[in-house]
Amino acid sequence: MSGGKGTRLRPITYTSAKQLVPVANKPILFYGLEAVREAGIEDVGIVVGDTAEEVKRAVGDGSKFGLRVEYIPQEAPLGLAHAVKISKDYMKSEPFVMYLGDNLLKNGIKSFVDEFAEEKFDSQILLAKVPNPREFGVAEIKGGRVVGLEEKPKQPKSEYALVGVYMFTESIFEAVDNIKPSFRDELEITDAIQYLINKGYVVNSHIVEGWWKDTGKLEDILDANRMILSELHQRLDSKPGDASDVHGNVQLDKGVTVKHSVLRGPCIIGTGAEIVDSYIGPFTSVGPNARILGSEVENSIVLEDCTIRNIGSRIGSSLIGKNVTVEKTDKLPRSYKLMVGDNSRIILF
Ligand code: G1P
Repeated sequence: MSGGKGTRLRPITYTSAKQLVPVANKPILFYGLEAVREAGIEDVGIVVGDTAEEVKRAVGDGSKFGLRVEYIPQEAPLGLAHAVKISKDYMKSEPFVMYLGDNLLKNGIKSFVDEFAEEKFDSQILLAKVPNPREFGVAEIKGGRVVGLEEKPKQPKSEYALVGVYMFTESIFEAVDNIKPSFRDELEITDAIQYLINKGYVVNSHIVEGWWKDTGKLEDILDANRMILSELHQRLDSKPGDASDVHGNVQLDKGVTVKHSVLRGPCIIGTGAEIVDSYIGPFTSVGPNARILGSEVENSIVLEDCTIRNIGSRIGSSLIGKNVTVEKTDKLPRSYKLMVGDNSRIILF
């Protein structure tokens, strides 16, 4: 699934699909495609919406992932169950995995897909314990079995959220034809699975071990960035230059310039980036051709072609979009001068 509007990630999503925001310099969607391939799946239909062209440009025919990718256009974001409905011709009667393109799972999905293929359940869902269940689909569990599911409940019946990876057989097509739009006017996959349970279909569930992230919001993207970077190994494809210190798990891609700077891993610096008179702290991803000059950045994602220049204080917990300039000047008057897109967020200290 790679449609939707990504409203919780504006303004980034005005110009980019939420599934293509890079985490550790790789689009979130690519982690999902790799997990799918690793599970032995070779045919992928990607449901796309307004950002179809960008997704197609990034993924192409899927061959670079070892996949055969086709695209299934969704005319409007009418819900995940609607996306299943329009995928019926593509799926025919094969069992399939539905993977939400903004979800990341540390341990992939192979073990779940293998079990689903062997056990012949009608559906299989994954659950994870979360501190904020109201923001997800939530399972009601009795005697170790899922007996109910509710989308964004006001009073959650458990702390177990539905992870955005689902396994279905063709019974789901009957379910999506028999549900009504929800409070947010979407055909919810959660309601379709509830339909399966009500009709006595076998819906198996698993609790996911290891981390899982739905990257719908800024904080979650930064969390995901931290999780991926914490497994980074040092790789220096460029040599740090004069008077620079590189500590810990730092990845410097080709053509990176580092001068008079301190880099403390885990952090990743993309091709052609320039780090001069600066400090790059842990859990930072700097995109290709970004320039960080006379500044300090940590726990942040800085996308390609940005310039950050002479910031007196440290930038932290930030997501900075493509081709953005952030700089400090000593020219009077002493005022903040901003040109910021709609729905941006700026916090000054
Ligand atoms: C969707 C599902 C929700 C699930 C979540 C997982 O939520 O509707 O049940 O818990 O994905 O990522 P949405 O991202 O549409 O709010």
